[in-house]
Amino acid sequence: MILKTEPRIRSLALGAIMTSALITAGFVETAPAYAKTADQSQVLTSSAVAVADKYAADTAEQIFKQGGNAVDAAVAIAFTLAVTYPEAGNIGGGGFMTLYVDHRPYFLDYRERAPMSATRNMYLDDKGEVIKDMSLYGHRAVGVPGTVEGMWEAQKRFGKLKWKQVLAPAIKYAQDGFEVDDQLISRRDNASKDFAGKTNFDLYFGSMKAGQVFKQPDLAKTLQRISDKGAKGFYEGETADLIARSMEGHGLITRQDLKSYKAVWRQPITASWNGYRVITAPPPSSGGVGLVQLLKMKADLKDKFTDVPLDSAQYIHLVAEIEKRVFADRAQYLGDPDFYKVPVAQLINDDYILKRAQEVNPNEPSDTKSVQPGLGTSMPEKAETTHFSVVDKWGNAVSNTYTINGYFGSGVVAEGTGIVLNDEMDDFASKPGVPNMFGVVGSDANAIAPKKRPLSSMTPTILTKDDKVAMVIGTPGGSRIFTSIFQVLSNVYDFNMPLAEAVGATRFHHQLLPPNTIFQEPYHQLDPEVIKQLEAKGYKFTMQGFNGDIQAIRIDGDTPEPMSDPRGRGVSRVIK
Ligand code: DON
Repeated sequence: MILKTEPRIRSLALGAIMTSALITAGFVETAPAYAKTADQSQVLTSSAVAVADKYAADTAEQIFKQGGNAVDAAVAIAFTLAVTYPEAGNIGGGGFMTLYVDHRPYFLDYRERAPMSATRNMYLDDKGEVIKDMSLYGHRAVGVPGTVEGMWEAQKRFGKLKWKQVLAPAIKYAQDGFEVDDQLISRRDNASKDFAGKTNFDLYFGSMKAGQVFKQPDLAKTLQRISDKGAKGFYEGETADLIARSMEGHGLITRQDLKSYKAVWRQPITASWNGYRVITAPPPSSGGVGLVQLLKMKADLKDKFTDVPLDSAQYIHLVAEIEKRVFADRAQYLGDPDFYKVPVAQLINDDYILKRAQEVNPNEPSDTKSVQPGLGTSMPEKAETTHFSVVDKWGNAVSNTYTINGYFGSGVVAEGTGIVLNDEMDDFASKPGVPNMFGVVGSDANAIAPKKRPLSSMTPTILTKDDKVAMVIGTPGGSRIFTSIFQVLSNVYDFNMPLAEAVGATRFHHQLLPPNTIFQEPYHQLDPEVIKQLEAKGYKFTMQGFNGDIQAIRIDGDTPEPMSDPRGRGVSRVIK
């Protein structure tokens, strides 16, 4: 989708860079026995949510009124958004959930996996070139969905309500319908152009009209099966049969792929920053490593940032210098930890980050080619998303980002199910050095393999102070996700902005490639005078046609303050 109203993010033409892989730690959590959360006394004045639409906020309210906790609310929100926010909310995709329950951090990886018959070169032609759009549109773009298994795992482990209770609001919205928002229609119109002649998208969504009620009877039946049978209502039986049948002759996902899907509890990344404990996403996300590197490098460069005003030419230059180094590491070392030992501990080590910070050139943009992955390359070579934040009055928190990748994913709706299937396979490196939809490149660490999870940038994050939740934050935006979260956190904690201002403030983005290119967002543009000064240094500016959609909750004392990004149709609500 090209700029116009609000695009899916298009590939950006980049020069190829050669990369190789380096490896360490797997990070699967040895899960303690499942236990429902201990009944605690109320520690906050209220519960709160920041979610992508008003229906999800209503669902959360209903769940809290029934006595549910943050995990119940999160699971109910996820199913609701699969109905009312179909461009990104989903049961046909996957994601990550960062939790803080009874003062302990957890991370659930329910990212999609490559089908068992996927192969490393499945998107290459016989000359070894990437076949345009094959990993983006249609059946072959689809990874094995993880959302339902993820929600099942989280609710089973920590929820207080019955499974049926958390499904009920979504089933009602699918059966009785919901009123369609203008923003949804404009995204549908853009997607429809991309999918025309390639998928059955219009059969399901072509009739949707702004301001009118839209019902999804097939989806209601699918959700009912999930409500009746738990995760098996998706991964086995009728739903699995329908998904597999819709793939026959077109795509790779089989009944066996669905039956063998598993979500994984992993150790979240944790780091100390600015008096807070940052709890964030480990691989297969690159987001947690990226966020910690950004936050700490900026802190290490405190002297250089002193008296540098926000969004001044010098500020943007320094942040871009930091981002260059973060994205060099991302391309080289990050991938699915079940396949490659990602060197997480080394990448977020304080001495290593300080060394990288010291490489920042305070005056001029460092030559792109000179910015290499920081741990060396001596190891052998082989070896549209939505976020919501929830806190409950007992002090538990859920930060959840899940996705079908581009808006409406692959554009394929599994016949008879109403399920919009993802195009997450595009997050793999189809070929080393060739950029994906977000313009980011990858190496062997992110090559396609059966059952492997594609590298993500999703960064659901929680900050705690003295073991109490202080911030819950996340956003969609592909590779812009962790640079956006970094900017909001820096606005709040370094610039002392009120949360609304911090979330609404201008954001920009740089990712090493294309060289010295700063992406601006349509919502707020940078000062033309600042742009002129940076162009004189050699930077180029380009619009990214994408805004992000931060959903954040800040807790200072015992009162949660939720905030939804003014760029989206999100709703934040305090619930007594
Ligand atoms: O996992 C990832 O990083 C991407 N698939 C996320 C996609 C996304 O944020 C789409 N939003 N614009």
